[in-house]
Amino acid sequence: MMQAPGQLSKNATFLLMRTFLNGLLAMALVGLGVLAQEKAPPEKLVFMTKNGNVTFNHADHIKRANGDCSTCHDKLFPKSATAPLNYKPTLHKAAEMDKTSCGACHRAGGAAFESKGNCAKCHMKG
Ligand code: HEC
Ligand code: HEC
Ligand code: HEC
Repeated sequence: MMQAPGQLSKNATFLLMRTFLNGLLAMALVGLGVLAQEKAPPEKLVFMTKNGNVTFNHADHIKRANGDCSTCHDKLFPKSATAPLNYKPTLHKAAEMDKTSCGACHRAGGAAFESKGNCAKCHMKG
């Protein structure tokens, strides 16, 4: 087919549009990736329990870990405030025995106070 001079064929226009849209899509995906990576660490997280809510001071725990996120992420907890903690079975004894979840540190002989005798250090009754 003959073309008027200076006019792009339908095919060429389609190719240009497709390249442009692919570019936009790539930029959007890179943007999302950056957002996912830069989710800011929370100051505090509150865990609601039937035994009284527990405030986990994330910032203070980071300081005590000398800023090393890998102390907890992801081997003890995923970076998600909605993921299950898996700390509650058998009134925390299972996690303390297995040195998992909060019980990795909060246990007899660990880096922090055990659950036994210390319920009120974590659970706030209102
Ligand atoms: C002492 C353990 C500990 C350390 C150290 C730690 N975190 Fe966390 N973090 C947690 C816990 C616990 C949660 C909640 C996990 C859950 O609910 O299952 C969490 C959740 C998060 C979340 C998810 C927040 C949300 O709103 O979903 C982000 C982001 C995060 N941490 C970032 C960091 C960064 C960055 C560092 C290092 C500077 C860090 N954490 C160090 C224990 C820790
Ligand atoms: C990497 C070790 C570590 C992990 C994991 C950890 N803690 Fe701690 N936590 C500590 C240390 C160390 C202290 C301060 C020492 C002490 O008081 O025995 C502390 C103190 C606390 C306190 C007292 C208030 C404060 O922040 O000083 C609370 C409440 C607490 N932790 C809750 C939790 C909960 C809930 C989890 C699980 C979501 C958890 N911790 C996981 C090490 C840890
Ligand atoms: C280091 C902080 C900490 C200490 C100490 C602690 N708890 Fe907890 N407790 C928590 C957290 C955080 C949860 C939520 C755990 C989860 O979702 O897996 C929880 C959950 C519970 C639950 C489950 C409630 C529900 O909604 O299903 C019970 C019951 C409980 N704790 C009792 C106790 C008792 C009794 C003690 C003292 C012997 C104690 N806890 C000591 C932090 C603590």
